[in-house]
Amino acid sequence: MRKPQQAQLQAIAKHAVAWFAKYRRDLPWRNTRDPYRIWISECMLQQTQVATVIPYYERFLIRFPDIQSLAAANLDEVYQLWAGLGYYRRARQLHAAACKVVESGQSPFPLDRDAIAQLPGIGRYTANAVASFAYDQRCGIVEANTQRLYARLLRCKTPLNASSSQKQLWDFADAIVLAWPLATGQLNQALMEIGSQVCKPKSPSCGQCPLQKHCLAYQHSETDTIPAALPKKQITELKEVGLLIHDSKGRWLLRRRLKSERWAGLWDFPRYDCTDIPNEGLALDRAADAFLNLYSKRPRIAQECVSVKHSVTRYRILLRCYLAQIDGKLTTSNKSALANPDKNNALEPSQEQLSQEQLDWYTTDELDQLALSSSARRVADWLKKHRP
Ligand code: ADE
Repeated sequence: MRKPQQAQLQAIAKHAVAWFAKYRRDLPWRNTRDPYRIWISECMLQQTQVATVIPYYERFLIRFPDIQSLAAANLDEVYQLWAGLGYYRRARQLHAAACKVVESGQSPFPLDRDAIAQLPGIGRYTANAVASFAYDQRCGIVEANTQRLYARLLRCKTPLNASSSQKQLWDFADAIVLAWPLATGQLNQALMEIGSQVCKPKSPSCGQCPLQKHCLAYQHSETDTIPAALPKKQITELKEVGLLIHDSKGRWLLRRRLKSERWAGLWDFPRYDCTDIPNEGLALDRAADAFLNLYSKRPRIAQECVSVKHSVTRYRILLRCYLAQIDGKLTTSNKSALANPDKNNALEPSQEQLSQEQLDWYTTDELDQLALSSSARRVADWLKKHRP
């Protein structure tokens, strides 16, 4: 495949921008040049669909209208506003980045692409997107939508995760913004929008594409095979038993997930992996033993009440939840695991706290305010509806 020449890059940019002026979707983060708002939108949009992000974005910015308010917040509150978007590491890094900006005196926001790229959790794409959308800095972008579009325009046949493909795509992204003398932010957003709305993964709308005459994959009837399919992820099925342990006041026992676990820092019902256990009775014994080892009490497990299926990275998890009770109080030896007695005033968990087991009791209504893992949120919604 040839490298497009300057005149061709300009023609592509011109058609893309003209198309965007006519067909762009009106998305909330497109009505601002505030780098903070754009950054929040880009963090939320990583791995999450536009329609899902919009209400989260709006709620988040009402509560944290600027970087100072985000830096001053307690991480639990950031998690609460993030709950449901998944990939909580993004929320943690967002908060850490806000603290870094404020502490280093760069607020309201770092002034250029290289300074933005120094922040935690910000990679090449996000730094370039924020700098180009907010400041019109001349930097190209490559993310899921643009990489598919560029791969087809260039007829890039190698899998897109290959480093040679990535180099070619980033070279194209940088070359096109350098060839276009007008607003880089509009051009990058136009290319992204064409990637998402026209140059779709399956059955792209080539008849409506403003770049059709520049597209080598179209000319060679290869839009079905470019980009090349990546090898299928190997899915691993996991089974877990969740314990919905309640006390006589109708409160539920939750634990905070540790630093070493996925969804670190979020609250969850105690749950134990039982993937390799052949039958339900043995799985329940395993869960009860695991709880006993950690907290010195053996729960009495009663009936199953709700099950939740969810996927995370290459795992598909079936979580079967059982009502359970423990006799007596958690005593001093195991109470060391009990969390902050004044939970409404919970401080941000320190790294040290996230290395130790923390347990606490919550009423069904209090679960609304708690930063739960998304599968625990589904269980909590079930409890709220059914009040077993
Ligand atoms: N996906 C990633 N960033 C986006 C944006 N700014 N607009 C629409 N979709 C996106």
